[in-house]
Formats: sequence, structure tokens, C-alpha cells
Amino acid sequence: MSENEKIQNLDSSDVTRYEKFAFPRFRDLLRKENQDSIVAGAASCYGYPAGLVLAEAMGGGQTGIIHSLFVAPRFRNLGFGKELLFFAERKLREKGCTKSEICFVDDGNSTSAIKSTLSKCGWGEPELMREISKIDIFSLSKENWPHRYHLPAAYTIIPWPDVLPAKLEELKAPEHKWYPGYASPFKDQPVSPHFSTSFWLCLREEIVGWVITRLTAPDTLYYDILFVREDLQKTGRGVQLLAEALKAQFREQIPFGTHIVMHAAGFSNPPLIRFSERRLKPFALRTEKYWNSYK
Ligand SMILES: CC(C)(COP(=O)(O)OP(=O)(O)OC[C@H]1O[C@@H](n2cnc3c(N)ncnc32)[C@H](O)[C@@H]1OP(=O)(O)O)[C@@H](O)C(=O)NCCC(=O)NCCS
Repeated sequence: MSENEKIQNLDSSDVTRYEKFAFPRFRDLLRKENQDSIVAGAASCYGYPAGLVLAEAMGGGQTGIIHSLFVAPRFRNLGFGKELLFFAERKLREKGCTKSEICFVDDGNSTSAIKSTLSKCGWGEPELMREISKIDIFSLSKENWPHRYHLPAAYTIIPWPDVLPAKLEELKAPEHKWYPGYASPFKDQPVSPHFSTSFWLCLREEIVGWVITRLTAPDTLYYDILFVREDLQKTGRGVQLLAEALKAQFREQIPFGTHIVMHAAGFSNPPLIRFSERRLKPFALRTEKYWNSYK
């Protein structure tokens, strides 16, 4: 790196010239009064802003999280990415961090660049954490599988608003909590379940599962939770619930569906991953992959 190419702490008077290099949700960190836990490294070339790294000491100060690392396209492949990363690592170590973590999204464009930069800087092989896909429901509805399933006689699938309040109270009672917190149908979310595309699965009179969808844009339904009681998992009931929601979405003419597939150790569900690969992803208009790497 020549003397005209520099990496230094971002000066508060330069925030407006550099903030475009950070993800919008992190820009406030650049203006924080008490900046003790923040690392902001600015790269410049002949005085022009060339890139920025933004990191934070978290988890009681032991873990350094790199929130964003960005080099302007015309300054790429000149070594700035590597130098910014080394700068952040050094500053985080000075703050007492013993390990570092970075999360990045695979948008199909610069993934090989970030993977290569991390590997050259001695970071671990990135691990896939989750994928978010946007599905074209009109194409998917031409498939056979959502129409092929038949529920055994003991089961019914009922629309979201049709459940009796007493049944919900029973499900809410702490002694009846047979479902994990992350799958709870009572979770508070900014967007409520979409009534006409969310359903309950009942075995005789008892609720044993649910599919919860949320309308996150006028043309997009987010498939938030698909859950079936543990002893009934792997019996195909989950797919029937999902098929019911997909058919309802098609009836409602909502063109897109989004869903998350978890890959992180301890959170992944291999049968769901396989199902999504075979039955849903062929109709994905876009899939974003979220990766983590550690050092
Ligand atoms: C990732 C990024 C920061 C790399 O910046 P950069 O300044 O081009 O990186 P460097 O010049 O320091 O290159 C580092 C190494 O990666 C390699 N590399 C860079 N781009 C590459 C690419 N597209 N394909 C393969 N290798 C690549 C370089 O050859 C270099 O290796 P070397 O030291 O053996 O020559 C930059 O591409 C970028 O800003 N991307 C968009 C934002 C992003 O994805 N951020 C990451 C998560 S927040």
C-alpha cells in the first residue's frame, strides 16, 4: 500500500462522506457518542474515500463482530479489503476481543470476493447459516404435489379464525406447552397471521399443528411457522398443512411466498432442507444465503 493509500480511524467530520459504505441499519453506530466498543476504519486513496470497515466489541467485550466491510468498486483488488480487515482485527484485539465473527449475504455478485478475502486473511471456512427464498407461487401451483395429499379421516385442517377460544386457552396453558418457544402460535410479531392462508391441524378435537403466514407486502406472503406435534412429525402432516396454505395463497392470487431455511448447527431440520430443495427451490426467483465466518 503506497503512502497515498491509507487506513485510519474514521474521523467524526468524515462520517457523511463514508457512511454510504456501511449497511443502512448500522450507520447510526458511526454517530454514536460513546464509541468505546466501535471500530470504524476508513480507507482513502489520494484523499478519496475508498472503503470502510465497521466492527463492534460485543458479548461482554470478548467477541468482535464485523458488521460491514466494503470497498468501492473502482478501488477493489488493490489490497484495501485485506488491510481494512486487518485494521479491524487489530483494533478489536486492543479492545480485548479474543475472537471475531463476520456475517455476510450471498447476493450472487461479490461472494467469491469476500470468501477469498477472508481466506487470505486467515479466517475459517464460511458456514451457511440460513437461506431466504422468494418463491413464484403461480408456477408452483402448476405442480401436482400440493393437490395430491389426502388427510387421514381422524384429522382436519381448520382456517385460522375458526378455532374456539377455549381451545386456544388450553394450548396456551403452561402445562400444555408441548411446542418449543420458537414455534409458538402466540409469538408477538409486528405483522399478525394472515387469516385466509394460515391454518390449524387437528387430530379429532385436539390442535396438533399449525402453519402461520404473514402478509409482509401486498404481493408477498411470508411463511413464518410450520409446526406439527413431535410424535406426529415425519408422517407427512406438515406437508399437507403447507399445501393447504399454498393452495389458499393461490386462491387469493398473492404472487410471492418467502421462507427461511435454517442451516446453522442445532437449528437445522434436514428433512425440511431436503423438502425445500426438491419442492420449493425450483420455483425460487431469488435465494439469499447468509454465511458466518470466524477467526
Ligand atoms: C469483499 C471486498 C471487501 C474485497 O475488497 P478488495 O479491496 O477488492 O479486496 P483485496 O484487494 O484486499 O483482495 C483480497 C484478496 O481477495 C482476492 N479477491 C478479491 N476479489 C476477488 C474476486 N472477485 N474473486 C477472487 N478473488 C478475489 C484478491 O485477489 C486478494 O488476494 P491476494 O492478496 O492473493 O491478491 C469487496 O469486494 C467488496 O466491498 N464487496 C462488496 C461488499 C461485501 O461483500 N462485503 C462483505 C461483507 S459485509
